[in-house]
Amino acid sequence: MAKDPRPFSSKLEVPEALTFDDVLLRPKESRVEPDDADTATRVSTNVELNVPVLSAAMDTVTEAELAIEMARLGGIGVLHRNMTVEETAEQVERVKRADELVIRDVVTASPGQTVREVDEMMGREGVSGAPVVDEDGTVLGIISGTDIRPYLEVSDRDEVRDAMTSEVITAPEGVTAREALELMYEHKIERVPIVDEDERLVGLVTMQGILARREYDAAARDEEGALRVGVAVGPFEADRAQAADEADADVLFIDCAHAHNRNVVDSARTIKEEVDADVVVGNVGTREAAEAVVDFADGVKVGIGPGSICTTRVVTGAGMPQITAVSEVADVAGPEGVPVIADGGIRYSGDAIKAVAAGADAVMLGSYFAGTKEAPGRVITMNGKRYKQYRGMGSVGAMQSGGGDRYLKEEQEDEEFVPEGVEAATPYKGPLESELHQLVGGMQSGMGYVGAATIPEFKQRSEFVRVSSAGQTEGHPHDVVITDEAPNYKPNE
Ligand code: XMP
Repeated sequence: MAKDPRPFSSKLEVPEALTFDDVLLRPKESRVEPDDADTATRVSTNVELNVPVLSAAMDTVTEAELAIEMARLGGIGVLHRNMTVEETAEQVERVKRADELVIRDVVTASPGQTVREVDEMMGREGVSGAPVVDEDGTVLGIISGTDIRPYLEVSDRDEVRDAMTSEVITAPEGVTAREALELMYEHKIERVPIVDEDERLVGLVTMQGILARREYDAAARDEEGALRVGVAVGPFEADRAQAADEADADVLFIDCAHAHNRNVVDSARTIKEEVDADVVVGNVGTREAAEAVVDFADGVKVGIGPGSICTTRVVTGAGMPQITAVSEVADVAGPEGVPVIADGGIRYSGDAIKAVAAGADAVMLGSYFAGTKEAPGRVITMNGKRYKQYRGMGSVGAMQSGGGDRYLKEEQEDEEFVPEGVEAATPYKGPLESELHQLVGGMQSGMGYVGAATIPEFKQRSEFVRVSSAGQTEGHPHDVVITDEAPNYKPNE
């Protein structure tokens, strides 16, 4: 038969792009036990974490409650931006105040208040004791629940000055947790006011606060000891960037579905010049996009359409399978020393560690955390099973409550949004701690199979093999009926 004389179109000479299921880590000789694998990493120029994991900036994933728990456990939460600028600042402050050694926003009593007023105030503020200060802030005494119990024959109409303990043990600014604890044991007290040279109140250290901090030895903390937090900022939201920065956010994440856009890059560069916080730019998915931002960004976030609730690829026809996207970006950012974050599409711990092998320094997950107790929203029950809502930030519902600028869409009153995400439900999973434990434990085991004791070593030592579809099938449980659910595996639907 004669050959077709027409040449193939050069348009069809296309490169192949791979994602998680297309590859596996090649096992290597190892001396590394999984528990000894050190997962410490950097998410941005100045922010190091013990756990290389971020929770997604989505309104069904990260608000202050989840961000506090993420940071306590060594990762970092990125607050979503479907809220007012003032709310963003408040949420950052909530995280920053959560496990502070020295509480700055101290609830105080004045000597002339009645015992009843102070008792009510302490109930309202959720504290069990308060320093008593005069108008200058000088500490005169301390009053706690035990000072005002009726059996002490204190009337609720008595003044605080008659009921308080006036021999107060105070400490100066700069006191360490150990010193404060020693004072507390020695004097059998639970709180120590921190005072300046003139005995004026500047803060308070509590026993409860010290014990909470001890529990979290891998926590992500800033130089002052407060928990770290990230904030999503729209590509043109200078006001939110400013407010988050003033509230001491550690990292701002320029939150755009396609950051390789000249206006977005210019605006991100300006934001970077105006804030103290690190600025991570995303999302990108190609080498060229990385080249456009590495000269000023403190980190690059990768992911064009891999997310579980994303419809970007089917709606727009554009996207980049995630393993290829991460490795292209890492080829550019890595040598420049700019951390890379792989965002979206991670279903299992194995996906997360494959993303690191492709060149990521850390991974960001949405669906994995949306079902946890600490994620926003309430638990719903359907057919006897418990779920929480999970929706794409490009879904109709999320865009209605926040706008479409992540997708570079103008808000128009009489026009329907063209969504790039769906609204869904995800099984309720309970506390974040056990989910994160499974994720990080699986990643450490992956490091063990490759024989790498640290993330930088793993990035260098790991190699991929390409997997056929038969190989993929072989990799999941097969020829059996699963009788007990594993905590880290759900069958592909
Ligand atoms: P996972 O797979 O962890 O993905 O649930 C979370 C990431 O998905 C991105 N994201 C979206 N992408 N349409 C998209 O194309 C959306 O509506 C959407 N909402 C979130 C985002 O990068 C997130 O971190």
